[in-house]
Amino acid sequence: MKWWQKTIVYELYPKSFLDTEGQGTGTIRGIIEKLDYLESLGIGAVWMTPVCLSPMVDNGYDIADYCQIDPSYGTMEDMEELFAQAEKHHIRIVMDLVFNHTSDQNPWFIESSSSKDNPKSSWYIWRDAKDGREPTNWRGIFGGSAWTWCEKRQQYYLHTFAAGQPDLNWADPDVRKALYDAANFWIDKGAGGFRIDAITYIRKPDVFEDGKPDGEDGMISVHDMTANTPGILEYLHEFKENVTEGKDVFTVGEANGVSAAELPEWVGENGVFDMLFEFSHINLEFKGIETWCRPRPWTVSDLKAALRSSQNMTKDNGWVPVFFENHDKPRCPDHFFPKGCSRNKAAKAIGMILETMRGTPFVYQGQELGYGNVAWPSIDCYNDISSHGQYAFALSEGLSETEALACVHRFSRDSARTPMQWDDSANAGFTSGTPWLPVHEDYRSDNVKTQSDDPDSVLHWYMKLAEIRKTYSDLTDSAYDEMLEEDSCILAYRRGRMRIFVNLSDQPCTYDGNLEDNGKTVLCSYPSHTKGELQPLEAILLEVL
Ligand code: NOJ
Repeated sequence: MKWWQKTIVYELYPKSFLDTEGQGTGTIRGIIEKLDYLESLGIGAVWMTPVCLSPMVDNGYDIADYCQIDPSYGTMEDMEELFAQAEKHHIRIVMDLVFNHTSDQNPWFIESSSSKDNPKSSWYIWRDAKDGREPTNWRGIFGGSAWTWCEKRQQYYLHTFAAGQPDLNWADPDVRKALYDAANFWIDKGAGGFRIDAITYIRKPDVFEDGKPDGEDGMISVHDMTANTPGILEYLHEFKENVTEGKDVFTVGEANGVSAAELPEWVGENGVFDMLFEFSHINLEFKGIETWCRPRPWTVSDLKAALRSSQNMTKDNGWVPVFFENHDKPRCPDHFFPKGCSRNKAAKAIGMILETMRGTPFVYQGQELGYGNVAWPSIDCYNDISSHGQYAFALSEGLSETEALACVHRFSRDSARTPMQWDDSANAGFTSGTPWLPVHEDYRSDNVKTQSDDPDSVLHWYMKLAEIRKTYSDLTDSAYDEMLEEDSCILAYRRGRMRIFVNLSDQPCTYDGNLEDNGKTVLCSYPSHTKGELQPLEAILLEVL
């Protein structure tokens, strides 16, 4: 087994982690300061969302230079020190490669947009106007047309996300080479791996045409027209050959639009990445791309089926990143459970699954403290570009302002981005300045300091789970063998000698106690457990002796 199969990865959102400058946004030095804390979580890798030079239209996912650190985060020397200090804490740093697009402030784009015949003219996706308007009716993922007019060049450019994030043209070999160079630059600095952003959009269809509108605005999501276009894997095999093959780094691709059934082509022996974030279990509300105003109801059985299919598809070949939160998703306790549930128990239930399924667990900043969502009183309080786009779209679909705001409360990415809560001092100890996003109102009771002092806290639960993963190798090595498949509340499985039962409902449940095989309790979220019974949201891990 490789090191990254045995470790736990922590996804860190640097802008909200710790500010050492009093500027209201997190810094790389802040991460260095908290390496003891990260090590205490038992993790072996930190995936940092982008810290490269960026105008921050999309909080760093709009990169102006792949080989420079944004001054708000610090300097390249700080970054080098982070690599070195992290190593002393047995932590590898994983970088976020944003290779589908750059910032419109990137010199590559500035040159490409300057004329139709400059040396980088074909580095982005340019098209003439069609009948005096956008070349197609594609809607960008953050709302509005996916095309923006460039006066200088007298053409439109394509952007899957915001207008400030023009899509690169991967069909141009010079573009691919420049990107591979950027990735290798970070390997040379000491990166332990890459999370690869929005990768399913890099190959565009040969013909660009209008799609059947899916909204009142007459547009169709660009996702439905360009995601996972045949031929994409050719580029990615080339990426693998030029960047990661034979090196001690791992890759995890963000793969919206790839189904569990397609996983074998993407991961494993002959795949292109080591792991793939496949979203079916956290996008249960949506068919295809996220449309916050059109959520569908889902059941625990749907969640179980989604988890089962990614486990099954990779059981003989490939590896799964197990995850339930990230910087784009709502917080677990408010996402997977009915209103009014105990946040502590809900967070522990998800933590148990996260750390005991087959795969590499990815814990997202704050998940180890069981954070909930925020619900701010007006759309103006939100920073997230996607919240604004989704709000406007909901209004255009005929929802009232209150209804549109309710969608934002439920799905906004800002819920995952509020500042880390270190203690109960002003601004939760995150900054001495004004935080770029308000600190969650519960910070006085829920923070690292108070939870460190409470043995029943979610933080202690995560620390114990990390210890347990190290002690019981079955949790990393053994196959996933599901039990009680038909049960509509309980997720249960065997991992070698380990037995895991999690009640995902807020009602007590019973099951055949023989399935416990007289195992002894290793960890339980209630003070006591009765064989064959689970209390609301109970999570228990047993070892068969
Ligand atoms: C996925 C990232 O996780 C998200 O935060 C970002 O907005 C888009 N890709 C565009 O880069």
